[in-house]
Amino acid sequence: MTWDTAHTLGKGDVVSNESLANLLREERRFEPPAQLAADANVTAEAYERAKADRLGFWAEQARRLSWSTEPTETLDWSNPPFAKWFKDGRLNVAYNCVDRHVEAGHGDRVAIHFEGEPGDSRSITYAELRREVAKAANALLELGVRAGDRVAVYMPMIPETVVAMLACARIGAPHSVVFGGFSADALATRVRDADARVVITSDGGYRKGGASALKPAVDEALSRPGTENVRNVVVVRRTGQDVDWTEGRDLWWHDLVERQSEEHTPEAFEAEHPLFILYTSGTTGKPKGILHTSGGYLTQVSYTHHAVFDLKPDTDVFWCTADVGWVTGHSYIVYGPLSNGATQVLYEGTPDSPHKGRWWEVVEKYKVTIFYTAPTAIRAAMKWGDDIPAKFDLSSLRLLGSVGEPINPEAWIWYRQHIGAGRTPVVDTWWQTETGGIMISPLPGVTATKPGSAQVPLPGISATVVDDEAREVPDGAGGYLVLTEPWPSMLRTIWGDDQRYLDTYWSRFENRYFAGDGAKKDDDGDIWLLGRVDDVMLVSGHNISTTEVESALVAHPAVAEAAVVGAADPQTTQAICAFVILRGAAAEELEEGGLVDELRAHVAKQLGPIAKPKRILPVAELPKTRSGKIMRRLLRDVAENRELGDVTTLTDSSVMSLIQQKLPSAGSED
Ligand code: WT7
Repeated sequence: MTWDTAHTLGKGDVVSNESLANLLREERRFEPPAQLAADANVTAEAYERAKADRLGFWAEQARRLSWSTEPTETLDWSNPPFAKWFKDGRLNVAYNCVDRHVEAGHGDRVAIHFEGEPGDSRSITYAELRREVAKAANALLELGVRAGDRVAVYMPMIPETVVAMLACARIGAPHSVVFGGFSADALATRVRDADARVVITSDGGYRKGGASALKPAVDEALSRPGTENVRNVVVVRRTGQDVDWTEGRDLWWHDLVERQSEEHTPEAFEAEHPLFILYTSGTTGKPKGILHTSGGYLTQVSYTHHAVFDLKPDTDVFWCTADVGWVTGHSYIVYGPLSNGATQVLYEGTPDSPHKGRWWEVVEKYKVTIFYTAPTAIRAAMKWGDDIPAKFDLSSLRLLGSVGEPINPEAWIWYRQHIGAGRTPVVDTWWQTETGGIMISPLPGVTATKPGSAQVPLPGISATVVDDEAREVPDGAGGYLVLTEPWPSMLRTIWGDDQRYLDTYWSRFENRYFAGDGAKKDDDGDIWLLGRVDDVMLVSGHNISTTEVESALVAHPAVAEAAVVGAADPQTTQAICAFVILRGAAAEELEEGGLVDELRAHVAKQLGPIAKPKRILPVAELPKTRSGKIMRRLLRDVAENRELGDVTTLTDSSVMSLIQQKLPSAGSED
């Protein structure tokens, strides 16, 4: 595998090699605010303790949770890379996230301030959440859902989504949350792979100022082969829009759940009992079902939420803007914050509806103290203008976080300045669906932060940067990010495919988990993430595999072959750019126009709008190696209007000049 540093550095909009070097030269550092450091949940001593006894450190963190049987064994690594954490311990995850806070006297504390996009709002206390989760658990049991059965959740960002996930956890039924923006096809694939028995959905949700339907996609997905084991569809009424109804299969949430008993005794499950499956794109067409289990996962998300966000449950108001359909929503909306008894905001809509100050209005309304979002959103806010956040009172904020992609130093500085009033620390948190919880991040009361760098592995986490031969690189050098020791919230396997788990993560370097990201260490040894080294594109914070888009394109009768690359894009990090070889007749039709639009719409229908290529460029040939592998690196050069790199491994080096000749405008926007 070769990896071109210049390319990955160019991925962000502003981080060129030169500006990065300049920023490092300036040695810009932001010391923790004195008061925050003095009151911090976690201090520098944690690094020492974890270094001296890593497993002892995690055993201690596991005591943050309430176990019905305390674990005596911390890690069983006798069959690597299949880890068992806390394997003789037993617990109920939902009890840990809800009931125990009520039992501790915090029933009146608000768990969720829900803010709907149209402006409706509801505050739900821990006591109310306990009742709702118990009723929903009883409802699932009535439908015959048993421990181990999979439940698909395809929902907007509403409180019932959190309740549904916790109800599944409570009865030991692993949930598979499918992002509400995904198409019927994507949902069908995931329902089939997990062999789900029940789907929980809603009529729709509010997005961008209107009601956006969800139920039709469920109906369509369940008409596909391989989804027959879904017995019931439970539908939350959110928008009131018309829905088709399949008698005997479909049930309204309010009919089913409301009449249930508010009492449900949580059963304790083994620490390694599956908690959820979450699909993430892979480099082959089939998405990977990442499997997370209970005790280790909850330990790490609880600890990291406490340590990285310095959460004080009595006074803080936490807000993570991620969709619950992504791992960030699982770990830092549902399981991390709730296990810590946090009060948090749950917002249904988009940041610019009904106006571009919507998020800041919500921060002001609920006096949010800790705010966690993605660089793509920060860059959008930057583009909309400083005057927008300036209209709102953001003085409650004391800590800001970033996740999902490298944050360019300029955006980091803007975030701190215009959202954090130049006072708040910014924690850039690196992790993945696969890691389950945060792995590399500053600690807000300890670390002097550097704009653009995730900096240091958390206490108890072992990460480093290696070269092609697995040798650790010296400070100042770049390579591949690897994790060198197992961690509690690590994925346990790929659902139904242990071999793929081994091949994808543990085969590139012996005994090391390869994260798929390029990284460098600066002269202080701090880690800078540089993006994916494989062929997954990062579009507005979503990972989309090139292969999935290619397969969608060639599924269209007019397309013979397709190659897809992510080209640097100032707004979305990467924009999807597709090179297609058309079939004869289709090529003629192109002259009349329309085909390119049709192909874009076709991909959107197959994979969801986020996967729609920004540009589609019909070409006569594609650059391939002798073994037939498409050389995406060269296509990226074309798409980014750069001089071509090394073409010597091409079967036919004239192909590239043909592509470039035919596409004089390839580098411009359309
Ligand atoms: C990939 C994982 C983690 C939740 C959201 C994404 C990129 C994530 C950072 C960061 C640089 C980052 C990596 C990683 N990424 N956080 N702070 N700095 N890159 O989860 O969809 O599984 O994507 O997102 O490339 O491998 P995911």
